[in-house]
Amino acid sequence: MQEKFTLPFTSDFEKDVYLGLTKFPKQLSSKYFYDAKGDRLFQEIMAMPTYYLTNCEFEILENHKSEICNYFKNGTESFDLIELGAGDGKKTKILLENLVRIQARFTYLPIDISTNALEKLKISLKEELPELKVDPIQGTYFESIKTLCRTTKRKKILLFLGSNIGNLLHPQAIEFLKGIRDLMNEEDLFFVGFDQKKHPKTVLDAYNDHEGVTEKFNKNLLVRINEELDANFVLDKFIHWEVYDPESGTAKSYLVSTEEQNVTIDKLDLNVSFKAWETIHTEISQKYDSEIVDWLCQKAGLEVLQEFEDPKKMYKNYILKRATK
Ligand code: AVJ
Repeated sequence: MQEKFTLPFTSDFEKDVYLGLTKFPKQLSSKYFYDAKGDRLFQEIMAMPTYYLTNCEFEILENHKSEICNYFKNGTESFDLIELGAGDGKKTKILLENLVRIQARFTYLPIDISTNALEKLKISLKEELPELKVDPIQGTYFESIKTLCRTTKRKKILLFLGSNIGNLLHPQAIEFLKGIRDLMNEEDLFFVGFDQKKHPKTVLDAYNDHEGVTEKFNKNLLVRINEELDANFVLDKFIHWEVYDPESGTAKSYLVSTEEQNVTIDKLDLNVSFKAWETIHTEISQKYDSEIVDWLCQKAGLEVLQEFEDPKKMYKNYILKRATK
């Protein structure tokens, strides 16, 4: 008999996989998409026209860079520009270039889990913007910002791009925003992207490409479990399935077992059985409108200072600050 909680898990990944596959309905966290292979697949996704989010945000930054950078630079001698989940920094570079051009005095502090991504970013910035001060930080968002905020007395601009907040359900998003708010001083700003509600077909297509890249990305969870936890998932016995509820604005990804099957995960000493058409929920990608953003902010003690939209009205970036009440 397998007893829960008695296994000494050696990582969060092990623990979360164990708990997620022994509960009903089954689930796995989207945060585990991003190993080296997952990073590459996500970059492929961002390059696809159907994944409109990246281009929309790119356009917003390109079209409004002067105004955005003025908000950042205003009223201070110097500041720290802290980015949560910097990745390859492709979009951030628009702002960085412009800030350097207008001679803002600032240090760029990209935070990322991936040492590999940070190293690449640092090298490319050294080449493209040699005068920029860069101080990469490897770690999880909150751990890293907390230590950072204890050491800096400068004005802080926090960046959270790509609608990454969409991976959180509203209650978790509020907790996340509260956490950010608590680290901010009065003059600090939080610049964040929220993908907006739109034609449901457009949303579905973004997570359902015909080339099957999103499917591979989703199944990378199973590949990781196979490789890292000695499991025997057969990828062809699962399909990628995406649903979008236009009422709640929630896109949900699943892996669906196409037949009755058993999978063994040796490292967890676990046998997982699937009924035919049983699901594993893997990701939510929440879509917003300005009322919901206002509500989330209000719950978290933040307020919207300014918002920016792309020409096709699909995506918004918001400048937030601590609420004054
Ligand atoms: C990186 C969380 C913003 O949800 O749109 C892309 C991840 N998942 N395709 C998103 C993702 C499937 C993406 N975020």
